Amino acid sequence: MKIAEPHLCRVDAAQGLLLGADGHYRKTYDDLSGLYADTQAFEALLSERRGQVAYEVTSYTPGEKVSDLIVGVARMEPGKVGDEFFLTRGHIHANADRPEVYVGQAGRGLMQMESPEGEVRIVEMTAGSVCYVPPYWIHRSVNVGDDDLVMMFAYPADSGQDYGIIERSGGMRVRIVDDGKGGWRQVDNPHWRPRSPEAIARIYDEGGAAA
Ligand code: NI
Repeated sequence: MKIAEPHLCRVDAAQGLLLGADGHYRKTYDDLSGLYADTQAFEALLSERRGQVAYEVTSYTPGEKVSDLIVGVARMEPGKVGDEFFLTRGHIHANADRPEVYVGQAGRGLMQMESPEGEVRIVEMTAGSVCYVPPYWIHRSVNVGDDDLVMMFAYPADSGQDYGIIERSGGMRVRIVDDGKGGWRQVDNPHWRPRSPEAIARIYDEGGAAA
Protein backbone atom coordinates (compact mmCIF):
# COMPACT_ATOMS: atom_id res chain seq x y z
CA MET A 1 0.00 0.00 0.00
CA LYS A 2 1.25 3.44 -0.90
CA ILE A 3 0.99 5.72 2.11
CA ALA A 4 1.80 9.41 2.46
CA GLU A 5 5.24 10.69 3.33
CA PRO A 6 5.68 12.58 6.62
CA HIS A 7 6.05 16.30 6.11
CA LEU A 8 7.81 18.86 8.29
CA CYS A 9 6.56 22.43 8.61
CA ARG A 10 7.55 25.19 11.00
CA VAL A 11 5.38 27.81 12.65
CA ASP A 12 6.97 31.23 12.35
CA ALA A 13 5.01 32.99 15.10
CA ALA A 14 6.77 36.33 14.56
CA GLN A 15 5.85 36.48 10.88
CA GLY A 16 2.58 34.62 11.34
CA LEU A 17 3.38 32.06 8.66
CA LEU A 18 3.64 28.31 8.28
CA LEU A 19 6.98 27.61 6.63
CA GLY A 20 6.91 24.57 4.37
CA ALA A 21 3.26 25.24 3.48
CA ASP A 22 1.79 24.55 0.03
CA GLY A 23 -1.13 26.95 0.19
CA HIS A 24 -1.42 30.68 0.91
CA TYR A 25 -4.40 32.99 0.70
CA ARG A 26 -4.91 36.57 1.76
CA LYS A 27 -8.07 38.47 2.59
CA THR A 28 -7.89 42.21 1.99
CA TYR A 29 -10.10 44.76 3.74
CA ASP A 30 -12.16 45.00 0.54
CA ASP A 31 -13.14 41.34 1.05
CA LEU A 32 -14.66 42.10 4.46
CA SER A 33 -17.41 44.42 3.29
CA GLY A 34 -20.69 43.86 5.14
CA LEU A 35 -19.15 42.21 8.20
CA TYR A 36 -19.03 45.19 10.54
CA ALA A 37 -21.86 47.09 12.23
CA ASP A 38 -20.40 50.55 11.62
CA THR A 39 -20.50 50.85 7.83
CA GLN A 40 -19.29 54.46 7.89
CA ALA A 41 -16.21 53.54 9.92
CA PHE A 42 -15.62 50.61 7.53
CA GLU A 43 -15.74 52.93 4.50
CA ALA A 44 -13.23 55.22 6.22
CA LEU A 45 -10.96 52.23 6.89
CA LEU A 46 -11.29 51.11 3.27
CA SER A 47 -10.28 54.51 1.96
CA GLU A 48 -6.98 54.10 3.84
CA ARG A 49 -6.36 50.37 3.42
CA ARG A 50 -7.96 49.28 0.14
CA GLY A 51 -6.03 46.29 -1.20
CA GLN A 52 -4.06 45.77 2.01
CA VAL A 53 -4.03 42.42 3.78
CA ALA A 54 -6.43 42.07 6.75
CA TYR A 55 -5.60 38.41 7.42
CA GLU A 56 -3.72 35.61 5.70
CA VAL A 57 -3.54 31.86 5.94
CA THR A 58 -0.67 29.55 5.05
CA SER A 59 -1.44 25.84 5.10
CA TYR A 60 -0.26 22.38 4.21
CA THR A 61 -2.80 20.01 2.61
CA PRO A 62 -1.63 16.39 2.47
CA GLY A 63 -4.75 15.09 0.71
CA GLU A 64 -8.49 15.54 0.39
CA LYS A 65 -10.01 12.82 2.54
CA VAL A 66 -11.58 13.03 6.00
CA SER A 67 -8.50 11.19 7.25
CA ASP A 68 -6.16 13.86 5.86
CA LEU A 69 -5.53 16.74 8.24
CA ILE A 70 -4.97 20.23 6.87
CA VAL A 71 -2.61 22.17 9.12
CA GLY A 72 -1.98 25.87 8.86
CA VAL A 73 -1.31 29.22 10.43
CA ALA A 74 -3.63 32.23 10.37
CA ARG A 75 -2.36 35.75 10.98
CA MET A 76 -4.72 38.68 11.53
CA GLU A 77 -3.87 42.37 11.81
CA PRO A 78 -4.96 44.27 14.95
CA GLY A 79 -7.49 47.08 14.77
CA LYS A 80 -11.11 48.11 15.06
CA VAL A 81 -13.96 49.26 12.84
CA GLY A 82 -15.67 51.82 15.06
CA ASP A 83 -15.57 50.03 18.43
CA GLU A 84 -15.71 46.53 16.92
CA PHE A 85 -12.52 44.49 16.86
CA PHE A 86 -11.13 43.05 13.62
CA LEU A 87 -12.50 39.61 12.85
CA THR A 88 -12.41 36.86 10.26
CA ARG A 89 -15.40 36.20 8.03
CA GLY A 90 -16.29 33.03 9.95
CA HIS A 91 -17.93 29.80 8.80
CA ILE A 92 -19.44 26.46 9.65
CA HIS A 93 -17.81 23.47 8.01
CA ALA A 94 -19.72 22.43 4.88
CA ASN A 95 -19.45 18.92 6.29
CA ALA A 96 -20.64 20.32 9.59
CA ASP A 97 -19.66 17.33 11.72
CA ARG A 98 -15.96 18.05 11.20
CA PRO A 99 -14.10 19.53 14.20
CA GLU A 100 -11.11 21.87 14.29
CA VAL A 101 -8.27 22.60 16.71
CA TYR A 102 -6.70 26.05 17.12
CA VAL A 103 -3.46 26.68 18.99
CA GLY A 104 -2.53 30.26 19.93
CA GLN A 105 0.95 31.33 18.81
CA ALA A 106 1.11 35.10 19.35
CA GLY A 107 -1.16 38.00 20.21
CA ARG A 108 -4.46 38.15 22.06
CA GLY A 109 -7.66 36.98 20.48
CA LEU A 110 -10.96 35.22 20.81
CA MET A 111 -12.52 32.19 19.24
CA GLN A 112 -16.16 33.17 18.80
CA MET A 113 -18.47 30.20 18.37
CA GLU A 114 -22.20 29.86 17.80
CA SER A 115 -24.28 26.69 17.68
CA PRO A 116 -26.99 26.15 15.06
CA GLU A 117 -29.55 26.93 17.80
CA GLY A 118 -27.77 30.21 18.56
CA GLU A 119 -25.86 29.40 21.73
CA VAL A 120 -22.74 31.57 22.05
CA ARG A 121 -19.34 30.52 23.37
CA ILE A 122 -16.30 32.80 23.53
CA VAL A 123 -12.83 31.41 24.28
CA GLU A 124 -9.83 33.65 24.95
CA MET A 125 -6.73 32.73 22.95
CA THR A 126 -3.13 33.64 23.75
CA ALA A 127 0.13 31.84 22.93
CA GLY A 128 -0.25 28.24 24.08
CA SER A 129 -4.06 28.23 24.30
CA VAL A 130 -5.60 25.21 22.63
CA CYS A 131 -9.22 25.57 21.57
CA TYR A 132 -11.11 22.53 20.41
CA VAL A 133 -13.97 23.62 18.17
CA PRO A 134 -16.37 20.66 18.21
CA PRO A 135 -18.43 19.62 15.17
CA TYR A 136 -21.42 21.83 14.26
CA TRP A 137 -20.14 25.12 15.74
CA ILE A 138 -19.94 28.22 13.56
CA HIS A 139 -16.56 29.79 14.33
CA ARG A 140 -14.63 32.97 13.70
CA SER A 141 -11.60 34.58 15.32
CA VAL A 142 -11.37 38.11 16.67
CA ASN A 143 -8.20 40.08 17.36
CA VAL A 144 -8.73 41.96 20.65
CA GLY A 145 -5.03 42.78 21.15
CA ASP A 146 -2.63 45.43 19.89
CA ASP A 147 -0.50 43.04 17.82
CA ASP A 148 -0.99 40.44 15.13
CA LEU A 149 -3.08 37.47 16.27
CA VAL A 150 -1.35 34.29 15.13
CA MET A 151 -2.93 30.86 15.53
CA MET A 152 -2.12 27.41 14.22
CA PHE A 153 -5.03 25.20 13.24
CA ALA A 154 -5.82 21.69 12.02
CA TYR A 155 -9.01 20.21 10.54
CA PRO A 156 -10.05 17.26 8.37
CA ALA A 157 -9.27 18.04 4.74
CA ASP A 158 -12.82 17.41 3.51
CA SER A 159 -14.43 19.84 6.01
CA GLY A 160 -15.14 22.63 3.54
CA GLN A 161 -16.41 26.05 4.55
CA ASP A 162 -19.91 27.48 4.40
CA TYR A 163 -19.62 31.25 4.87
CA GLY A 164 -23.24 31.89 3.90
CA ILE A 165 -24.63 30.54 7.16
CA ILE A 166 -23.58 33.77 8.90
CA GLU A 167 -25.00 36.05 6.20
CA ARG A 168 -28.29 34.13 6.16
CA SER A 169 -28.91 34.95 9.84
CA GLY A 170 -27.86 38.61 9.67
CA GLY A 171 -24.41 38.06 11.15
CA MET A 172 -23.35 36.20 14.27
CA ARG A 173 -25.50 36.62 17.37
CA VAL A 174 -23.04 38.83 19.26
CA ARG A 175 -20.43 41.40 18.29
CA ILE A 176 -17.14 41.87 20.13
CA VAL A 177 -16.44 45.50 20.98
CA ASP A 178 -13.94 47.58 22.94
CA ASP A 179 -15.07 47.94 26.56
CA GLY A 180 -13.21 51.24 26.89
CA LYS A 181 -11.05 49.79 29.66
CA GLY A 182 -8.46 47.95 27.60
CA GLY A 183 -10.60 44.85 27.24
CA TRP A 184 -13.56 43.56 25.27
CA ARG A 185 -17.22 42.87 25.81
CA GLN A 186 -19.90 41.17 23.76
CA VAL A 187 -23.01 43.01 22.65
CA ASP A 188 -26.13 41.58 21.00
CA ASN A 189 -26.35 41.99 17.23
CA PRO A 190 -29.85 43.43 16.67
CA HIS A 191 -29.86 42.15 13.06
CA TRP A 192 -29.36 38.52 14.07
CA ARG A 193 -32.22 36.19 13.14
CA PRO A 194 -32.55 32.72 14.69
CA ARG A 195 -32.29 29.83 12.26
CA SER A 196 -35.55 28.00 11.62
CA PRO A 197 -36.06 24.49 13.06
CA GLU A 198 -35.86 23.23 9.44
CA ALA A 199 -32.55 24.99 8.81
CA ILE A 200 -31.16 23.60 12.07
CA ALA A 201 -32.33 20.07 11.21
CA ARG A 202 -30.67 20.36 7.78
CA ILE A 203 -27.32 21.23 9.41
CA TYR A 204 -27.47 18.14 11.62
CA ASP A 205 -28.91 15.83 8.94
CA GLU A 206 -26.71 16.83 6.03
CA GLY A 207 -23.66 17.94 7.97
CA GLY A 208 -22.06 14.55 7.75
CA ALA A 209 -23.53 13.48 4.44
CA ALA A 210 -20.15 13.13 2.77
CA ALA A 211 -18.74 10.89 5.49
NI1 NI B 1 -13.07 26.02 10.26
